[in-house]
Amino acid sequence: MAAKCFFDEIIECLDAQKDKRKTAFVQPETIRELFAEKTDAPKPAQEKPSRLPVSEQRQTSDVPVIKPPTASPAGKVAVENLSLNELRAVALNCHLCKLHSKRNTVVFGEGNPHAELMFIGEGPGMDEDMQGRPFVGAAGQLLDKMIAAMQYKREDVYIANIVKCRPPNNRNPEQDEAEQCLPYLKRQIELVSPKVIVLLGAVPLQRLLGKTGIMKLRGQWDEYNGIKVMPTFHPAFLLRSPEAKKDVWRDLQAVMQFLGKVYKK
Ligand code: URA
Repeated sequence: MAAKCFFDEIIECLDAQKDKRKTAFVQPETIRELFAEKTDAPKPAQEKPSRLPVSEQRQTSDVPVIKPPTASPAGKVAVENLSLNELRAVALNCHLCKLHSKRNTVVFGEGNPHAELMFIGEGPGMDEDMQGRPFVGAAGQLLDKMIAAMQYKREDVYIANIVKCRPPNNRNPEQDEAEQCLPYLKRQIELVSPKVIVLLGAVPLQRLLGKTGIMKLRGQWDEYNGIKVMPTFHPAFLLRSPEAKKDVWRDLQAVMQFLGKVYKK
């Protein structure tokens, strides 16, 4: 009872700050910790505040009591029925695969929770691991340019990865890591329900669609649960092979055309 009152106070306080147009963000797991009865559950990893769209930051009403992630008998985390904020809270506390031990932050993903366009990469690199946000390093800057060229703002789209914790030395996520993490991404896709998913590189092509051969399959429409999917090259590959940018631009133009965006020179 006392905890509930305290929670109400936090909400009131946030509301008051909102009215004064101040920015305030309480991480869901902070609130959860405040209310947790004594538990042996592992301490959640610290995540630095990220610049998320307000729509995702402020939905504190559905985050008060979040159970730590539990693996089902099949070894997968149970995410059905979770909202995006609940899913985030669970993911931030995830210890299901070995990647958790070396991470600084969990990079859940960010963007418009109702985006018509979603980008999926492979996993956080060093910058993303430090900031807790996807695609903020050199590859991210190129992705930002790709998004702008498609006549979207970064905050219009949703950006996520196959794994939410940084693989050491930026290696590709291993099969067990991808398998443990995929339920989070699949629920994110279900909730965001984009019209188009752009897969960035071979890893999301393999892990989400079970296909190999990005060189052959890029630029060819595919489908995931009724959602149109466009595989293309990863921006990190483009940084190494800028001559491939023209291929990616062709792929992105196909996406723009599908989404009713007219290419303007
Ligand atoms: N590369 C990815 O695949 N994802 C990121 O978030 C950053 C770099």
